[in-house]
Amino acid sequence: GAALRRNAAPSRPSHRSHYSTASEPERKVAILGAAGGIGQPLALLMKLNPLVSSLSLYDIANTPGVAADVSHINSRAQVEGYAGEEQLGKALEGSDVVIIPAGVPRKPGMTRDDLFNINAGIVKSLCTAIAKYCPSALVNMISNPVNSTLPIAAEVFKKAGTYDEKKLFGVTTLDVVRAKTFYAGKAEVPVAEVNVPVVGGHAGITILPLFSQATPKSNNLADEEIKALTKRTQDGGTEVVEAKAGKGSATLSMAYAGAIFADACLKGLNGVPDIVECSFVQSSVTELPFFASKVRLGKNGVEEVLGLGPLSDYEQQGLESLKPELKASIEKGIKFANQN
Ligand code: NAI
Repeated sequence: GAALRRNAAPSRPSHRSHYSTASEPERKVAILGAAGGIGQPLALLMKLNPLVSSLSLYDIANTPGVAADVSHINSRAQVEGYAGEEQLGKALEGSDVVIIPAGVPRKPGMTRDDLFNINAGIVKSLCTAIAKYCPSALVNMISNPVNSTLPIAAEVFKKAGTYDEKKLFGVTTLDVVRAKTFYAGKAEVPVAEVNVPVVGGHAGITILPLFSQATPKSNNLADEEIKALTKRTQDGGTEVVEAKAGKGSATLSMAYAGAIFADACLKGLNGVPDIVECSFVQSSVTELPFFASKVRLGKNGVEEVLGLGPLSDYEQQGLESLKPELKASIEKGIKFANQN
C-alpha cells in the first residue's frame, strides 16, 4: 500500500502525514508519563525519529497540551495525546515499543530505593494494562528504582501469561552515556568515538562501568583515575539531583538516553543487524535472574545477551560487591508484585 501511494502521487512530495516506505515499516511508540520531566523531551526526540509512524503520549494529566505542541513538528510520526486511566487502553493498543518514565523522581538526600513505594504501584498498574492491550510490545522501563521495577514488570507479565523475557528492558543507557562522556574527558579522546560497556544494575554501586574495555584505548589513565571515573558514573544521577536542588533528577540527558535505547529497539525490530546496547534484562550472565550487560537486539527484542568479557581486578571486585544489593532489590520487586 505504501509503495502504491507513493507512485500514485509523484507530484506531491510532501504528504507527510501518510509518509511511509517499504524500508521503514509502521511503528507505534507509546510513552507513559509523557507530560513529565523526562516524558516531554523524550516525546520531542521520538517525534524526530523517522522510524516512528505513530507516537502515543499518555499521562494522568496534561498530555493534550504536550501532544498538540509536539504534533506541529513536521516529521513523520502522527501524535496522539491520552490523559487519564480510561484512555490508557487506546494509548497502548498496537504499540511496538512502550517507554515508561512514569513516577516520581528523586530529591536531594533520596536514594532510588526511596522511590519504591510510589513507583512500584504505578509500574504495576501500567504493566497490567500493557499485558492487556499490547502484550507483544517491547517495554523500556525507565521508572526508578529500575533494579526493582523491572522485576515487578516481569512478575505482572508472568501472572498475566504474557511474559516474554526477550521483550522487557530496564533502561540503563544513561549510565553508558555518562560513562562515555566522563571517560572522553579524562582520556582526552573524541567523545563521539567512545564506547564503554556498563553492567550490573541501575543504582549506586550496582552500576559497574567496564573502563578496562573502553575504546578508544587510553594508556594514560592511572588506577586512581579509573576509580574516580567509576565513582562519578555511579553517582552521576546524584550529581544532577543535587544541582537541581529539589527540582527533580536527570530529565534531558535521560530523555536523550531513552531515545537512543528506543531507537535501538526499533532498529532491531526492523531487522537492522548488529544493534548492541547495554540493558538490564533477564540474564544468565551471573547467578542473578536480572542483570545489565550488552544485549544484541533483533526482530523479537533480545536476540542475545552478551557476556561480560575480561574484567580487571578492580571490576571483578566491583562485580562481587554489587551482587548482594542487586539481589535484594530484585527480590524486593518480586515480593511486592506477589503481595499487592
Ligand atoms: P516527573 O515527576 O517530572 O514526571 C513523571 C510523570 O509521570 C508525571 O507527568 C506524572 O503525571 C506521571 N505519572 C505519575 N503517575 C502516573 C501513572 N499512573 N500513569 C502515567 N503517568 C503517571 O519525573 P521525571 O523526572 O520525568 O522522572 C520519571 C521517572 O524516571 C522517575 O522514577 C525517575 O526516578 C526515573 N528516572 C530514571 C532514570 C534512568 O536512568 N532509568 C534517570 C532519571 C530518572
